[in-house]
Amino acid sequence: MASLFEPLPNAVRLLDAGAGAGALTAALISRLCEKKNDVRSIEATLYELDPLIQDALLERMQDCQHLCSEVGIRFSFSIHATDFIQEMSARLDDNLFATKPPIFDAAIVNPPYRKIGMASAERRSLRHIGVETSNLYAGFIALIQRLLTPGGQLVGITPRSFCNGPYFRSFREDFLANLEVHRLHVFESRGAAFRDDSVLQENIIFHAIKGRKQPRELVISSSSGEHGDIVTEKAVPFAEVVHKHDAEKFIHIPSASCHAVAKKAMDGLHTSLASLGLTVSTGPVVDFRLKDAIRSQPEKGTVPLLYPCHFNGGTVHWPKPDARKPNAILDNEETRRWLVRSGIYLLTKRFTSKEERRRLVACLFDPKDLDARWLGFENHLNYFHENGHGLERNLAVGLFAFLNSTIVDQYFRRFSGHTQVNATDLRKLVYPDRQTLQAMGKEIQELDQPQAAIDELVAKYLHAH
Ligand SMILES: C[S@@+](CC[C@H](N)C(=O)[O-])C[C@H]1O[C@@H](n2cnc3c(N)ncnc32)[C@H](O)[C@@H]1O
Repeated sequence: MASLFEPLPNAVRLLDAGAGAGALTAALISRLCEKKNDVRSIEATLYELDPLIQDALLERMQDCQHLCSEVGIRFSFSIHATDFIQEMSARLDDNLFATKPPIFDAAIVNPPYRKIGMASAERRSLRHIGVETSNLYAGFIALIQRLLTPGGQLVGITPRSFCNGPYFRSFREDFLANLEVHRLHVFESRGAAFRDDSVLQENIIFHAIKGRKQPRELVISSSSGEHGDIVTEKAVPFAEVVHKHDAEKFIHIPSASCHAVAKKAMDGLHTSLASLGLTVSTGPVVDFRLKDAIRSQPEKGTVPLLYPCHFNGGTVHWPKPDARKPNAILDNEETRRWLVRSGIYLLTKRFTSKEERRRLVACLFDPKDLDARWLGFENHLNYFHENGHGLERNLAVGLFAFLNSTIVDQYFRRFSGHTQVNATDLRKLVYPDRQTLQAMGKEIQELDQPQAAIDELVAKYLHAH
């Protein structure tokens, strides 16, 4: 991270927010001392709330001071044992009584990751200065961006979750409008990934410069995250990372070469889900809200309630008598508005486990396997439908093959670093046109196919375009 900085001014005002024991600042200082460039003085500002780590942080900064004095760099530091979010939100607020916010030339950060609820103190402070975000790390980055001088540099390590998904949309807009992204590094190994809110998450490192003009190209690199692993890197046009007309401002990270192959195959496709006349929605039954209507086993007056645990070999197997999840929901006046009229639907999992090979797992629901007029789709799955009704079979099976293919999975991974698949992500994908999907669907007799067979079929149709 320290190596990513471009040359810094003679006098550097450095920020490390959520400094821990000061590892990041120490790495940058040691590099600046080694490189003997034009830096003459460094004024480090460190924020760290945890009282137990303060001594270690102080010691580390004293070490930095010695190191700097040996090479003739003036080093001063201040440690603030206060809440960075509360303090900076207040100081950035346009309030006559607030003390002016500090200004920085450089920031190196590994901010804390934690969900912040709508009513939390952090969320309210951030909202005051126009920052709306549901995770602490994004709040840190949004504040740091505001504290940088134009041309100031930020190197951060964060979860990759901000790159896609609806919850980070306003953060992404703010980030991309004020920070020029020069480098993105992604850790691809699952072993090196960590869990965030029970969603498997990749980490990224970014180097960005305060300014409003994105570079024409940026460097994208990746490594497994294992110690000593080689880093592969390449220059990629910015337009491939954030697509020009994308209102969601997804940040695609085309790191692995198989991602590039997937992109090439997908580039031939231009059909949106909307132009296919289809919609994808999240299953409307939230089981804990409808507790009284949920039944473990089917009984008189109930209809099937489907969870991802009912997916099996590409089709729905219901009921599952020994499943931990319930199998049925009462069909009555109260529940009817959460139910869906039976028909052929394509279902996808919203969450996949670390062990699963694919992020996208699609399954066909066919009423011929299960006799019911209404169905409950639980909230952990997404379902494709046509205006609230089922799909024509060949179209649904074509979609089944397409979404279960390795090409789509690889393409999907370019913009999603976690194991959650939102309906927005599926809405944003490009699809083959209706005839192609139908033709693909017609060719598949048996849904429980080996991966290679699905891939071969999909590749045949995609390359024909
Ligand atoms: C992910 S750790 C990073 C530590 C260090 N920068 C590193 O990379 O080793 C985040 C740190 O932020 C601190 N922290 C959490 N909330 C904070 C807040 N609101 N203000 C300041 N520090 C905070 C935590 O105590 C923790 O030490």
